[in-house]
Parts: sequence; structure tokens; C-alpha cells
Amino acid sequence: MPDLYDQINTAANYIRSRAPQFQPAIGIILGSGLGALADDVTDATVIPYGDIPGFAPSTVVGHAGRLMLGNLGGRPVLVMAGRLHFYEGYSLQQVTFPVRVMHALGIGTLIVTNAAGGLNPAYRQGDLMLIADHINLPGMAGNSPLFGPNDERLGPRFPAMNGAYDPELRGLARAAAARLDIPLREGVYIFLSGPTYETPAEVRMLRTLGADAVGMSTVPEVTVARHSGMRVLGISTITNEAIADEAGGSANHSEVLETANLIGPRLRALIAAIVAG
Ligand code: HPA
Repeated sequence: MPDLYDQINTAANYIRSRAPQFQPAIGIILGSGLGALADDVTDATVIPYGDIPGFAPSTVVGHAGRLMLGNLGGRPVLVMAGRLHFYEGYSLQQVTFPVRVMHALGIGTLIVTNAAGGLNPAYRQGDLMLIADHINLPGMAGNSPLFGPNDERLGPRFPAMNGAYDPELRGLARAAAARLDIPLREGVYIFLSGPTYETPAEVRMLRTLGADAVGMSTVPEVTVARHSGMRVLGISTITNEAIADEAGGSANHSEVLETANLIGPRLRALIAAIVAG
């Protein structure tokens, strides 16, 4: 079995062979129901995950499972339409493998999007939230993609995580949102492994921990991106308000997808503006 470093380079070489001469600068991961942004990519080379050595297929409804290399807002980008999640049974190394490959392809900036539940009582369904920071709850219990022997060729043993969500990129995002008249929240995203939504007691607990939004993705990818030295920008779509009492309704995946589809155009416009700079 080749080691992770060789697997990453095999995948990167395969992608280069499918889009020779194309040098992506920015990687974009599209969250649940946000795949429509892929339609904005022009002159795209589309590669199903199944074609790429080492890529696991996406098994979740709302996640297409295609890599697209093309232009967005005048910049060369690589878009992951459909991500992999820990709850699908993949290891965190598998979940984050595409981010490693992006880095190997020379991509220096990663934009991650996701669907999230709003914990902050001021947040409403349909809000967009710039991620200012995160809490890696599974990571604290040993579920980190960096767990195990460290390959110094990929990054340092003990990467710093302050400033993980690049202050300068966040400034660009705020400015782009203001120009487009798109309201933008800014808060802390907490990662849970899922796949259950939260109990009301858990929602109350997560609020006391200082989290504004909760979801089942993003943090492992950001951890690996920072390990590799990539700059990161994260945006959550608040697809539902987390339920803090037993009398509330229930979160469900159709509602999450429906709301993500509704917010999609605003997020698409925002990302195109950020990428265009
Ligand atoms: N909880 C966890 N993950 C989510 C939610 C939620 O309420 N909404 C979308 N993803």
C-alpha cells in the first residue's frame, strides 16, 4: 500500500492529466444542497470522484460527487461539488484526502461552505454566516484527521489553529457582502460527527460552549488545509434553527436541502464576488 503522500500525488497527477495546462488557484467545497454554484463555473473539465485514484464516492443526497476545474469570477478554480462526511463511515483521512490533493495541485486558498443549524438565538433560517472560528468537538476526543504518525512533507506535527479562518479573506468577504447588500453574520461553527441532529439538551449545551452554528462537516477539511499551510475562508448557510426545547419541530434533511437551495443564489453571488476580489 503506497503511503498517503504517494496516494495524494497519484491523484493530483491524474487530475493534471485530465486538465493539462490548467492551474487552479482556489479550491471551493460546496456543502449540502449548494451544488448549483457549480453551474457558474465556465469552460469546466468535470471529473467524477470515482475516476480519481484514492477519492471515495459521495453517498449523501444533495452531494453530486464531481470535481470541476474551470473559471469563476475570472479566476481558475477547482470546485468539489459534493463532499465526504465522517458519518458516511469514511475515515477522516478519506474525508480530507481531496484537500490534500488540492494542496498538491498548487492551490493556496480554500473556500468551504456548509449547511448548518443556527444555535445563536438571533440567527434565522436563511442567514449566511461567515465562520470566524470553530470548535472541533470530535477532535478533542481523538477524531482528528491528523491523528497518527505525522508526515513532515505534509505539514508540522503540531499545527497552530488560531487565525485558521484567514482575517484578510474574512475582510474581503465582508466587503463583498456589503457591496452586494447581502447580510452576513459572523460566528463560531461547532463540528459534531452526526448523523443525528441534536437533542434539545445538546443544543443548550452547544450554546453554552460559545457556538453560533452546528454542523457535520468542514472542520476536518479546515484542519488539513491549515496543516498544509492553505488559507481558509468558511461560510455557513443557516438552513434551520436548532431546536432547544421539546415542543419545537424537528430538523430534517429535506428542510436543510430546501433552504440551502433557496439561499443558493445569494451564496453563489457572494462567492463569485469574493473570488473575483
Ligand atoms: N445540526 C447539525 N447539522 C446540520 C444542521 C443541524 O441542525 N442543519 C444542517 N446541518
